[in-house]
Amino acid sequence: MHHFEYRHNELHAEDIPVRQLAAEYGTPLYVYSSATLTHHFQAFDSAFGTPHLTCYSVKACSNIAILRLLGALGAGVDIVSGGELHRALKAGIAAERIVYSGVGKKREEIRQALQAGILMFNVESMQELESINAVAREMETVARISIRINPDVDPKTHPYISTGLKKNKFGLDLIQARAAYRRASELDCIEPVGIDCHIGSQLTSLAPFLEALDRVLLFCSSLRDEGIQLRYLDLGGGLGIPYNEEDPPHPAEYGNALTERLHGTDITLILEPGRVIAGNAGILVTKVIYTKETPGKNFVIVDAAMNDLVRPSLYQSYHRIAEVSPQGRKSRAVDVVGPICESGDFLAQDRAFPEVRQEELLVLFSAGAYGFSMSSQYNSRPRAAEVLVCGNTSTLIRRRETYDDLTALEENA
Ligand code: LLP
Repeated sequence: MHHFEYRHNELHAEDIPVRQLAAEYGTPLYVYSSATLTHHFQAFDSAFGTPHLTCYSVKACSNIAILRLLGALGAGVDIVSGGELHRALKAGIAAERIVYSGVGKKREEIRQALQAGILMFNVESMQELESINAVAREMETVARISIRINPDVDPKTHPYISTGLKKNKFGLDLIQARAAYRRASELDCIEPVGIDCHIGSQLTSLAPFLEALDRVLLFCSSLRDEGIQLRYLDLGGGLGIPYNEEDPPHPAEYGNALTERLHGTDITLILEPGRVIAGNAGILVTKVIYTKETPGKNFVIVDAAMNDLVRPSLYQSYHRIAEVSPQGRKSRAVDVVGPICESGDFLAQDRAFPEVRQEELLVLFSAGAYGFSMSSQYNSRPRAAEVLVCGNTSTLIRRRETYDDLTALEENA
């Protein structure tokens, strides 16, 4: 369920016409629905019948207002940098609900996370394990860790977002992971408490998750035989969403399947969903600047670009585009492109789309995850504003950047 609907031929975000939001805050504009975020989080979190902690993946959509909203619903978070730790703490997420993943944690970041008292580090290499131990020793504390397993399972998704294959940089294979657990149990300032695995993103079937889970569980039981007992099993994120015609499993199916597998164990499950919470809770609103017909193509040139939403350019991903107030004109194939000086700057290619005119508003759906969070200032374009809607009220949760923002860090450097 989401809360972006047409009423009287006008797209609404919950109870507010999107046209009104565009007039008030300008375009390009990210609009999130708090009802959708809440619904997605609760549907996901309630899908698991075993003890668990849902740690929203901050990278999907990192605005602190969104972290606060999810935190108030009981979410923990999955972080991958010191910056995300900063955001999470600022949003009031309790440290004991924070897990920290990523292949390149720096000592300073490790120190900050230990200082905060996070639940655990998901360790991705032997050197990282030694670094965490060294930092924890300096701080006279003990670091709780999981080893991230690379189970060599094909998630059947875009190559840039699969992470659990042998050739990927993430995690350790089972042989190296065993060595890492043995080493971890020797180190004074390390307490191995969990096991972790994240095989990729935008998965549209359960089979790869279950295959990975089976491998991890088998591995866990062999560790137990060696006297290494783990409390947490972190299965990462990755559940896909419908962008177009995909038909991913519902969180309830995912939850049931995992609950069934873990029934009777004393493991606490940790999940790190990002896209499934935020993806369809956000839209990107943009305005047509020009239309241009060339012998080769019809272009619709809009004021959002690859710096605002890079997914189409980077992964050839599909975002549904529509008019904010459909005019019923005839359709033809168009490329919807931004103003950036690169041919790779497109939001849609060869898309059947009704004729639109200058100044009309368009909407890109499913833009809540990896939309704003991957945006940049490329071509010196100030980043878009973000607005959170709740019923008939809207709150500006990040103001539009100004030209002065673009140069602020350079002025007195
Ligand atoms: N946990 C870890 C360790 C991750 O690396 C990720 C995503 C997640 C959780 C959350 O995955 P999700 O539930 O959102 O699939 N920029 C790409 C997606 C990159 C995902 C990176 N890691 C995109 O726009 O499709």
